[in-house]
Amino acid sequence: AAAEKGGYDTFMEKEIHEQPHAVGDTLLGRTDEDGHLVLDELRISEQQLKDIDRITIVACGTAAYAGMVAKYAIEHWTRIPVEVALAHEFRYCEPIVSERTLVVSISQSGETMDTLMAVKHARDLGALTVSVCNTHGSTIPRESDAVLYTHAGPEIAVASTKAFLAQITACYVLGLYLAQLRGGSYADDAAAVLKELHQVPGKIEQLLGSMGRVREIARFMADTRSVLFLGRHVGYPVAMEGALKLKELAYIHAEGFAAGELKHGPIALIEPGQPVFIVVPGPDTPHGLHGKVVSNIQEIRARGARTLVIAQEGDTAVEPFADEIIRVPATSPMLAPLLTVVPLQVFALHLSTAKGLDVDQPRNLAKSVTVE
Ligand code: G6P
Repeated sequence: AAAEKGGYDTFMEKEIHEQPHAVGDTLLGRTDEDGHLVLDELRISEQQLKDIDRITIVACGTAAYAGMVAKYAIEHWTRIPVEVALAHEFRYCEPIVSERTLVVSISQSGETMDTLMAVKHARDLGALTVSVCNTHGSTIPRESDAVLYTHAGPEIAVASTKAFLAQITACYVLGLYLAQLRGGSYADDAAAVLKELHQVPGKIEQLLGSMGRVREIARFMADTRSVLFLGRHVGYPVAMEGALKLKELAYIHAEGFAAGELKHGPIALIEPGQPVFIVVPGPDTPHGLHGKVVSNIQEIRARGARTLVIAQEGDTAVEPFADEIIRVPATSPMLAPLLTVVPLQVFALHLSTAKGLDVDQPRNLAKSVTVE
């Protein structure tokens, strides 16, 4: 078993370290020599894809957070409206779909019953269905019109890590491909993003080499009873995923919030010593969002919160209000989740270990939930 874990103590740790490859392999073989995306594997005609006027993403758990990231990116790159639905809600809420709706399911296992039922329902209603999936020959891809495989390799740990990064990457690829099909400035912008996306695996590698302090923070926090996570824009689903990881692995009460929502309720939870992770958007994120999140950090710090700040290298604005700063390499705003989520995974892993828990097999959870 030690050999299977490649020298790591747990599968989760091994899988966290495989993330540069999960992203790189999911990009691999999907561009031609001119740097254009080639997705013949989808086997949906270009015309059908060009006619799409609406996208609905269906998924559960971590995969649904990948879907939330995808919404921001695909809408920005294509201007096609994207909605994200938890698969078990989609199925029973009279979804509005037509033959011009693309329903994208995201599932690591390809066997999640809730997601499968949502896909079947969408097909019955006439939608075009694409499965983003990590498992060849599984049920959801078989029941879909097309499949875009993530190439994360088998994921053994119950809590998803590398599959999450691969899912986000595959959704970026899909969004950039749709932008490429739209042509003009959409295609030009997509080409630039794709180029940058190819640099992300190297940045994840670099980031994984600097997680020592995160491990220490996690160890000191073994007795913590509640942790909050704040994020905005694509950092919002990252905050939700950070909270989910902590619930799953360390059985600690954790909640992720949209930072803008703070003043509408969650700020009442802030009391002296309350640990709060803040996923800070890069300083060049549009609409001044960086400054707004820095103000949030200031507000909660003033009320005694212990601020654990995830910020880009070179972002000095956060320094006066951070109890801890975890640095991530700089990227353009849309691609940031592939980096900012990594310290949160590492944090949950080490907090779980510090509590003496089984990281790979958390209580009450299954890797794949095949019942409704
Ligand atoms: C279970 C797992 C989660 C996973 C979710 C969706 O709840 O414990 O880690 O995110 O299912 O799984 P899927 O295989 O569809 O991505």
